[in-house]
Amino acid sequence: MEKISDYLCRYKNYIFAVDLTTAEYMDSLQSFEIRDSDVFLVTYPKSGTIWTQQIIISICELAGGLNEYPNNLEQMPWLEYREDRANYALRPSPRLFASHLTPMLMPPGLKEKKGKIIYVMRNPKDNIVSYYHFSKAFKGLQIPKNLDEFLEQYLTGNVVGSSWFDHIRVWHSNKDQYNILFLTYEDMILDLKGAVQKICSFLGKNLSEAAIEQVVEKSTFKTMKKDLKANYEFLPEERMSGKFMRKGQIGDWKNTFTVEQSERVDRLIQERLGDLNLKLIWE
Ligand code: PPS
Repeated sequence: MEKISDYLCRYKNYIFAVDLTTAEYMDSLQSFEIRDSDVFLVTYPKSGTIWTQQIIISICELAGGLNEYPNNLEQMPWLEYREDRANYALRPSPRLFASHLTPMLMPPGLKEKKGKIIYVMRNPKDNIVSYYHFSKAFKGLQIPKNLDEFLEQYLTGNVVGSSWFDHIRVWHSNKDQYNILFLTYEDMILDLKGAVQKICSFLGKNLSEAAIEQVVEKSTFKTMKKDLKANYEFLPEERMSGKFMRKGQIGDWKNTFTVEQSERVDRLIQERLGDLNLKLIWE
């Protein structure tokens, strides 16, 4: 790992937080054996990961056969940041993982369409605002002086997860190699039940109407905020001083961005991702 600041290091062109993983561990993912029943939730940071995590876990719990773990982080660990480097080969199926990685760092077995991937994208302006607040609360990230400073780091890809633009491009342009479902944070806000149904059917789980409603209820912002297994308040104070469940809305960027900042992001989306014809929802 090449250390590029007090907070960040780079490996294979991807930026990690220092001390959370190693080059050896990342290399070991290249021989990680994928099972048909594996489910990977992949996102750029602050795009709705813990929300989708709760939906997937709730679906699998109600469908039956899921092992018990103390909380959602243990049930669906981060592939790249597992601190105790647990031996995943011994973990019973179905195994659930979350990841912010790009395709080249993921286990290659996924390309044989063995496991399933759910990819969630969030509009970059709300993503930036969420990430900005998170950077002030999560220990180990550089505390930005103001939004302008953070925006500069984000738009140049100098943040954990590297560039949002690259993440979106590389996952969209490699999609044919994977068994992958694309969702957006905004679609989930606008139609949570529809998103739950899509995830259910992608995972091949047949849930009753009542069970679907139960998943929806467990995954609302209001319920999750109180759910100690899901809201990440189980993280020790020395790692996180704020809340993962902050606002949970579309359009908070309007309270934070200047017109200039907003137009700069618009221009970059057009320049860097214009050809993908992404459907971005801003409010
Ligand atoms: S992380 O650190 O990458 O895992 O963060 P991530 O979970 O991807 O993103 C956190 C944002 O998701 C919001 N969130 C939700 N929104 C709506 N409904 C539900 N149930 C929900 N759960 C989490 C969370 O509030 C963060 O967004 P912001 O805008 O900061 O509130």
